[in-house]
Amino acid sequence: MTERETWSSRAGFILAAVGSAVGLGNVWQFPFQAANNGGAAFLVVYIAAVLLIGFPALLAEFVVGRNTESNPVDALREYAGESWAVVGGLGVFVGFWILSFYSVVGGWVLRYVGGSLTGAYFGDPSGYFASIAVGVDALALHFAFMALVVGIVALGVEDGIELGTKVMVPAIVVLLVALAAWASTLPGVADGYAYYLSPDLDTLAANLPSVLPNAVGQAFFTLSLGMGAMVTYASYLGGDDSLPADGASIVVLNTLVGVLAGLVVFPVLAAEGIGFDTAGMGAVFESMAAAFATLPAGNVLGVGFFVVLLLAALSSAISLLEVVVSYVVENTTRDRKPVAAIVGAGIFLLGVPTAFDLSLNGVGALAWYNLLAYNLFLPAGGLGIALAVGWTQGGRSTRELARGSNASETLGLAWLWTLRTVVVLALTVTLVLGVKTVLVTAGVLASSALSSMPLVVALAAVVAAVLVGGARSVDRPTA
Ligand code: TRP
Repeated sequence: MTERETWSSRAGFILAAVGSAVGLGNVWQFPFQAANNGGAAFLVVYIAAVLLIGFPALLAEFVVGRNTESNPVDALREYAGESWAVVGGLGVFVGFWILSFYSVVGGWVLRYVGGSLTGAYFGDPSGYFASIAVGVDALALHFAFMALVVGIVALGVEDGIELGTKVMVPAIVVLLVALAAWASTLPGVADGYAYYLSPDLDTLAANLPSVLPNAVGQAFFTLSLGMGAMVTYASYLGGDDSLPADGASIVVLNTLVGVLAGLVVFPVLAAEGIGFDTAGMGAVFESMAAAFATLPAGNVLGVGFFVVLLLAALSSAISLLEVVVSYVVENTTRDRKPVAAIVGAGIFLLGVPTAFDLSLNGVGALAWYNLLAYNLFLPAGGLGIALAVGWTQGGRSTRELARGSNASETLGLAWLWTLRTVVVLALTVTLVLGVKTVLVTAGVLASSALSSMPLVVALAAVVAAVLVGGARSVDRPTA
């Protein structure tokens, strides 16, 4: 077997992880999640979820990845015991799953870069979205986007992913800062900032049962958690730099880019008098395109905006593909290049229904794929990882976290217990409510079910206790 690849530098790892985190989740998904969940109120819960749940969960993925230097399946097996390979397996499947629809949206972005250049959507911005979002056009661009992703991943960890993200991430930041500065000069932006930055806490309190799982799901999605992407990236760490410090940089950079994107999107919409609650998958495309169509120098600004989105989408998509590719490469004797191509082809096929947006129970395929990932797969995967790292192993996890960092022992224990309690409980609540959302969307359950938060928490506590008990007793390697 050839020697396993590693990042060439610490900055290379951090940029790759930031590239994974910063993506369509920050720019495309965030505004419509926020619009559906009470605007700025959503921002508050989301940031709390990032800090209290996302950050410890990110460190958990780093710990398993660096400790085992393996793909998620072998990593969890080696770290926590044979049965935990299932959690890694779920992760590989979810990488396959998410990328299949992520790439369709990536294809839309590709199309909008071209459309901004030529002004193709200037005449009829919303009609344009409808005409490219589904059908053969969408399929062709889904293919083109996947080809780009496969091309980068095929080049390997250092020459593909690291090099690519070293260019893409700084470009995203520079372009976004420029766009946000420009957006601040538009007339009427105050309304945009107000909507984005002043939370309505009453709405929040009234809607917590529905806002909470969405915020946790969003925190997981945006930090690329719950399916082993960060396990995989940390598995390429050769040395022993501080995991808490690297994790903190990644969380801060990801949040800054997310907020920055909001400071572009909301003021532009306000300046153009476009409603914020154009909820739906096309929201950012239709409304930003409508704005660029009338603003002076709309072509240039449109290209700038959609190029940001394209780079963000690409640098995230490669992390999704890498999870699957690293698993297959390490469990077969095949080369990375053909594996990347074959896996990429499979993902392309799985995405076909979303490019045609066939609907089920009135909900389109793309929304279904997204819903299942958000509400079931990511919280379930995150829960599995938290149980494996927190409960099957305690000492080994805190030791691995401490390696190369000068954080105190107390901090390590605070992390471990946050992981064991807050993260496990929050993810169980999210999962319980997520199952409900799926059943309601499928028409199986009335939407009034489980509307009492205390009931949900009590139910989740019971489930979490059973899971923790199970995790404690499942076979585990002594370490
Ligand atoms: N974080 C990316 C975004 O915000 C998407 C992404 C990349 C992702 N890798 C992931 C989401 C792994 C969940 C799991 O767009």
